[in-house]
Amino acid sequence: MADARTMQCLLAVSLLFLVAHAHAQLSTTFYSRSCPSLETTVWEVMKQAVVKEQRVGASLLRLFFHDCFVQGCDGSILLDAAGGEKSAGPNANSLRGFDVIDTIKARMEAKCPGVVSCADILALAARDGTVLVRPCQRSPTLPVCFATLVNLMFLRPYQLRGPTWKVPLGRRDSTTASQSLANANLPSSGSSLSTLISTFASKGLSATDMTALSGAHTIGLARCSTFRDHVYNDANINSSFAARRRKTCQRSGGDSHLAPMDVHSSRVFDNSYYQNLMARRGLLHSDQELFNGGSQDALVRQYSANPALFRKDFVTAMIKMGNINPLTGTAGQIRKNCRVVNR
Ligand code: HEM
Ligand SMILES: *[C@@H]1O[C@H](CO)[C@@H](O)[C@H](O)[C@H]1NC(C)=O
Repeated sequence: MADARTMQCLLAVSLLFLVAHAHAQLSTTFYSRSCPSLETTVWEVMKQAVVKEQRVGASLLRLFFHDCFVQGCDGSILLDAAGGEKSAGPNANSLRGFDVIDTIKARMEAKCPGVVSCADILALAARDGTVLVRPCQRSPTLPVCFATLVNLMFLRPYQLRGPTWKVPLGRRDSTTASQSLANANLPSSGSSLSTLISTFASKGLSATDMTALSGAHTIGLARCSTFRDHVYNDANINSSFAARRRKTCQRSGGDSHLAPMDVHSSRVFDNSYYQNLMARRGLLHSDQELFNGGSQDALVRQYSANPALFRKDFVTAMIKMGNINPLTGTAGQIRKNCRVVNR
């Protein structure tokens, strides 16, 4: 009798464990019953946002990276409270796209109140941000986007868009954010290769993941203050490229003047970032560190020659990054407003 009880008890405990464990895994079908319109809504809002301002796809991709590296992918970056992550060194006057998250969140609260986390909305918006990258924005004077037409005629469509993937979901939102962790855990544009590798290793990401994820710098813009040192003081830079960047980034002043992360095609998600590195046209010191006689040179050469390999490794690494310490099960909460913790 006692043995049967013990067995029942053990069975119940292991079942509980299985259930709890199942909850700890993210799943691509997490909202398929509770909020089936989620992915189409994110896609529609992102499409409108990118048409309005092409750069916002890049900005949301970066926002997700900065969320995941601080406390895990828990939406902590979105909290407005003083002492939060938004005002940390790598984030202040730099992160963008919060309003797009607010728009998506408002639509989701109208459709499926209290169901979809801000952390998951950010993960989906980052994915759609890379897919939606386009070579041009429709001009107010022309009826069509001329560059897009030209590209559609002469390039194959897959070259126009970033890679896509199914996003594992089921993250919940944090009730805290940490400015000190944001300052400590995010890499900076002055980082050396060994610092970049160890910063990513501390989040469970390999050097290969780091080099593939850095390919995100094929889109978007950077401020003069983040690349000034590199274009004035570093030796491993093409001199005509450095001269070009110095024109709009003086030795002092104009800190917020912008330059494309990818000098060749900052509006297309391609592998030209790696080709730039081989030509010593990396914009940031940290970018050029990936091709400066060190351990990542060989991989940079591979990605620059093989766009399909880059896209494959980028997707693998994005999914890995999206798995950094998610809150699941009953941990955390589903915020009603991504900027504030529920009362
Ligand atoms: C490897 C270490 C990295 C460093 C040191 C770094 C640093 C930077 C810096 C300094 C900027 C310019 C910010 C500004 O001027 O305000 C930037 C922009 C950007 N970063 Fe990174 N980054 C890194 C990795 C990543 C990763 C892993 C991703 C995404 C997967 C990413 C995505 C982006 C994007 C898309 C932009 C352009 C954003 C925009 O135009 O709004 N970066 N990064
Ligand atoms: C820098 O790039 C230019 C082309 O923009 C090229 O003509 C020149 O040889 C390069 N300089 C060096 C030192 O590689």
